Amino acid sequence: MSGEYEFIVVANRLPVDAAEDGEWRRSPGGLVTAVHPIVRQHKGAWVGWTGAPGEVPEPFGFDGMFLRPVGLSDDEVDRYYEGQSNATIWPLFHDAVEQPVHQREWREAYHTVNRRFADATAEFAAPDATVWVHDYQLMLVPAMLRERRPDLRIGYFLHIPFPPVELFMQLPGRADLLRGLLGADLVGFQRPLAAQNFLQLTRLLLGLDPKEDRVEVDGRTVTAGAFPISIDVAEIEAEAADTEVQAQARRLRQELGDRRVLLGVDRLDYTKGIEQRLAAYGELLAEGSLSNDDVVLVQVATPSRLRVTQYQQLRERVEREVGRINGEFGEVGKAPVHYLFQSRSRAELVAMYLAADVMVVSPLRDGMNLVAKEYVAARIDERGTLVLSEFTGAAAELGEAFLVNPHDVEDAKRGICAALDASPDQQATRMRAMRATVRAHTVDRWAREFLDALSATG
Ligand code: ADP
Ligand code: G6P
Repeated sequence: MSGEYEFIVVANRLPVDAAEDGEWRRSPGGLVTAVHPIVRQHKGAWVGWTGAPGEVPEPFGFDGMFLRPVGLSDDEVDRYYEGQSNATIWPLFHDAVEQPVHQREWREAYHTVNRRFADATAEFAAPDATVWVHDYQLMLVPAMLRERRPDLRIGYFLHIPFPPVELFMQLPGRADLLRGLLGADLVGFQRPLAAQNFLQLTRLLLGLDPKEDRVEVDGRTVTAGAFPISIDVAEIEAEAADTEVQAQARRLRQELGDRRVLLGVDRLDYTKGIEQRLAAYGELLAEGSLSNDDVVLVQVATPSRLRVTQYQQLRERVEREVGRINGEFGEVGKAPVHYLFQSRSRAELVAMYLAADVMVVSPLRDGMNLVAKEYVAARIDERGTLVLSEFTGAAAELGEAFLVNPHDVEDAKRGICAALDASPDQQATRMRAMRATVRAHTVDRWAREFLDALSATG
């Protein structure tokens, strides 16, 4: 059986969430931010979960796209989403900065749900359609889909890091995951090293014989490559040029007491190095290198994966540390940390980017980090500096940032101070160079390069 859609994106989440008031809202995270504009352009379909368990809405149109919801039961949310995806694969693929948990029932649910996504996609795809599968929640889908629909051209992109070989080897069911990915014609990663790790594993675990960027399997050729993701630069620049957004940025600075502003914007996730950032800032205040009269840290932390234990524990630790710093170094009406456990609109985020003197992006590991690129795109005034962890994909492109090792608190402190001390000229030189990079590599280009490479396969 086949359907009518020539271009289909398959991702764990639809680009919208069902909010409590019954409205649809754009869902969080870098994947949706990046892929949403592409599906819209292609007038394509998107197969994904609504973000809530239980009843599945009928397929519906939204913003020029056709959305096909896939349902998850309560148990599946526990086991497939919170368990195997976010307590096993997510930490393991991020250098195991939190201990991955392994449970057989989670793997079984992951298999069942991947099958459901593959079946839904098989029904909707026109003959010979292009299907683009995304991210770590759906690693088995390419092979499952190929089994049912060998006519399709299948691409897969991993938004998060692919781990070093020795970490991947720890995964129960590791060969199945690899075989799942090999169902695609093209497997894309953020970094070249990730593609090499993947190809090397096909030799080690499956006895295949990879050559350069490809490997033969079951008489087909699978290509692997790096396609570093980006953002919709024009959209962010337009927000940043909006006079209301600029006025909001000025108001924000006034409300913060005209102090110099350090800014963090992340999902509240242990990979983001929020604790390390707070530790560095707290030490700088304690030793008197920074003063609450002169500097303030605004930390926006989007609620994320709230039922997963490691995320609950992280939230407690972060909130305790924010309380400690404010208690120790604050005054009435003047807190050193403004902590917002909230989601914000795009316009508000851009106003914050414009209000910042220093953006601090300090993940312990991150596939790319779009926040860093958004900040650079927003700084049409060529002011402000970026402190950026070496362990992000973005660091490979944004060499003019103040690069730091967030595991080393002294290095993080050094980076923050150097970024605060940069003169307007130094800020402009660095920002101009970073802006040129970001403007030359937009999300459109990323998608075009991936899809061109996909159509050149097989
Ligand atoms: P991840 O995909 O791990 O969440 P990225 O930095 O790659 O990290 O992407 C995060 C995306 O989510 C960015 O587009 C950013 O603007 C958006 N975002 C992050 N925090 C918030 C927030 N508090 N409110 C709204 N959007 C947010
Ligand atoms: C990252 C992942 C995405 C995920 C997003 C938000 O960007 O790569 O796959 O959708 O985080 O996480 P969530 O668990 O809320 O979907």
